[in-house]
Amino acid sequence: MPKTVYNTVIVNDTGIEMIAHPNINNPKPIAVFDSGVGGISVLKHIHRLLPNEHLLYVADSIHAPYGNKSVSEIQARCFAIADFLIAKDAKALVVACNTATAAAIDQMRAKYRLPIIGMEPAVKPAAAASSSGIIGVLATTGTLQSAQFAALLESYGRNVEVVTQACVGLVECVERGELSHDSTRALIKQYCKPLLDQGADSIVLGCTHYPFLKQLIQEVVGEGVVLIDTGAAVANQLKSRLFEQGLLAPNHQIASVNFWSNSPSANPEQVITHLWGESVKVSNF
Ligand code: DGL
Repeated sequence: MPKTVYNTVIVNDTGIEMIAHPNINNPKPIAVFDSGVGGISVLKHIHRLLPNEHLLYVADSIHAPYGNKSVSEIQARCFAIADFLIAKDAKALVVACNTATAAAIDQMRAKYRLPIIGMEPAVKPAAAASSSGIIGVLATTGTLQSAQFAALLESYGRNVEVVTQACVGLVECVERGELSHDSTRALIKQYCKPLLDQGADSIVLGCTHYPFLKQLIQEVVGEGVVLIDTGAAVANQLKSRLFEQGLLAPNHQIASVNFWSNSPSANPEQVITHLWGESVKVSNF
C-alpha cells in the first residue's frame, strides 16, 4: 500500500487554509487519454480542479471509435498509449474513456505501477436524480456490452428501470467537430426517442464525447430531463488519489497542457482548439 501523506489544514477566521506538505511537491505531469477528442471533456474538469498540474493529453483519433472494437484491440491501444505517456514521465494516468476503462483498466493496473483512474457511466447519480424511476444510458456498444457495465447495473440499477441505447456514429460527429449540425441532431433524436418514449427523466452521458453535445441533447430531450456525466467525479477522484499518495503539484507551478493526436483529418488542431476553448498546438502521435 502507498504511504499516505496528509496536508496540514489550518482553520482560522478567514476560513480553511491548506498548507502543502513538503512531500506534496511533485511537478510531474498527469496523463489523460481517450479514443479521440472526447476525453477533453474530462481534461477540462481536471484543469479546473487542479490548475497547477501539468497535463498531457493523447487523442487516439485514428483508432476511434473504440466502441465497436474487440477487447483485445482496445487493450493493445491502451498499452501503446500508456507506454508513450509513461515515457513522458507521467505520475498518474486517467483513462478518460468509458469504453477503454471497461475493456482494459484491470489489465493496465496489473501492468503499470502508477495510479490509474478510470471511469464508468453515472448510473448511481442518475438513479438518485430520477423521479420517474426510469433512467436512460447513452453509451457505446462496447461499454453497454461489457461485464463492468453489467456489474454497475447490478450494484446501482436495481431500484430503477434502465433503458440503454448504443449511439453508433455520435463519437464520429464530435471527432469531426460537428457539435450542432443537423445530421448530429438527427442522430441524437433517433437515439433519445426510445429513452423518452419509455419515460426516462434522467439520462447518463456514458461516453466522454457526449458532454460536447450536451446542449444539443438538452434541446432534443427538453429541460425537464436531467443529463449526467462523470467528468467532475473523475477529477475529484484523481485529486484524492494524488493527495493520498503525496503526488500533487506545488501550488506555485504554472500549468502546461500538451496535446498529441494521430487524427487523419486535415486539421486536428482546429477541432481540439474548439473543444478545449483556447488555441493549442497539437503534436503528432
Ligand atoms: N470517449 C469514449 C468513451 O467514453 C468513446 C469510445 C469510442 O471511441 O467509441 O467511451
